Amino acid sequence: MTRINRDRRAALMLALMSLALGACARHERQVLLPGGDDRRGRELIDRYGCGTCHVVPGTGSARGQVGPPLDGIAHRSYIGGTLPNTPDNMVLFIRQPQKVRPGSAMPDLGIPEHEARDVAAYLYTLK
Ligand code: HEC
Repeated sequence: MTRINRDRRAALMLALMSLALGACARHERQVLLPGGDDRRGRELIDRYGCGTCHVVPGTGSARGQVGPPLDGIAHRSYIGGTLPNTPDNMVLFIRQPQKVRPGSAMPDLGIPEHEARDVAAYLYTLK
């Protein structure tokens, strides 16, 4: 390989890497803005009993082991292993897990959209 080709390849790699980093940064910003009230969300998590099935740090709930622990959910790439982790998808999953993953052990709990946004806001504080 000639030297020019090597330099071009290095430049291309750098360009691709900065693109990938840019995409991560954008994703991060989006994740931090679910548009809800995280303090209310924490109360709602207790009220809806999410802790019967999940470990949810910072809440007074039980420490259920039916579903995955929700610590670090802010940085998980996928919700339920299928949905890209964006605020809108998080709200959708919290409201209608059976629609997203039919047959999932997580039941639809009848959570209205504005409350699901608060719950999502709290979940995104779990890093
Ligand atoms: C009856 C048990 C049960 C209850 C109650 C429950 N979940 Fe779940 N949850 C699950 C299970 C099981 C999964 C795994 C679902 C799957 O992958 O299909 C899950 C998955 C999730 C996920 C995705 C986790 C990941 O790592 O991808 C989130 C977020 C979540 N639940 C939030 C909640 C919230 C918020 C509540 C309360 C409003 C709640 N869950 C109540 C059982 C439950």
